[in-house]
Amino acid sequence: MCIRDWTADEAKLDVRLCQMVRLFDGGDPIKMSKRSGSFITVSELIEAMDKKVGPGLGEGVVRFIMLTRKNDAPLDKVSNSNNIQNIETLNQLERLIKTSNNCPLKNQALNTVFADGNPSSKIMLIGEAPGAEEDKLGKPFVGAAGQLLNKMLAAINLDRNSVYITNIVPWRPPNNRAPNTEEILQCLPFIQKHIEIVNPSMLVLLGGTAAKAILTTNHGITKLRSTWHTYNSPKLNLSIPTRAIFHPAFLLRSPAKKKEAWEDLLAIQKKI
Ligand code: URA
Repeated sequence: MCIRDWTADEAKLDVRLCQMVRLFDGGDPIKMSKRSGSFITVSELIEAMDKKVGPGLGEGVVRFIMLTRKNDAPLDKVSNSNNIQNIETLNQLERLIKTSNNCPLKNQALNTVFADGNPSSKIMLIGEAPGAEEDKLGKPFVGAAGQLLNKMLAAINLDRNSVYITNIVPWRPPNNRAPNTEEILQCLPFIQKHIEIVNPSMLVLLGGTAAKAILTTNHGITKLRSTWHTYNSPKLNLSIPTRAIFHPAFLLRSPAKKKEAWEDLLAIQKKI
């Protein structure tokens, strides 16, 4: 496996590594270099990296690779990934996303939906992608799902001023379809940087798409909810307690699931 040949410095510095990692549809399998053609899962990759760079450090390196990767881009075309390394503020990040051209979803969207709420909040909510209303207004969660989200927040004494809200993907997928794996990967560096800048004490992932992308797993929301996870940002020293809960749009379609959502909300309230 080519991963065994990497030195820690290469893993951190060599931008060509970005081109060697590719997450395939359906989740976990990562195809390592096209030359070797061998497959490895994310957890195997982390485990192997742990052995290479030290126990507990592998996940950060894997996330770094994902942070800087750009699918099969020739070396001279990775500038957008490189630029993101220099981003330090939310304004800079918003500008970078608005001027980026690495995700075709942008071409069909009316607006880039960056974030809403309080950037100083310690609670960061991450949804999937904007819908029609969000696309029109350029703000996350302003449609029907957003109304329910407001009620869910109010039930645990929170509101839009006490949380910060964004999405995995900042552009509306056509016909409100879910973003596909490729689109999620194209936008992953943005959300990873977004978390790094906001530096929250808690992440709340709204629905399976956000949960899978942030927790780097192929498990569904039913398996991921009801327990605490941690998110480790490559640049932040702390592990961020992370809770995945049902997406409000799902709850609108499946009101019987509100009881379980309520249990998760109470767990979040207890931890605040
Ligand atoms: N659903 C989401 O996941 N995000 C939004 O912003 C709106 C609906």
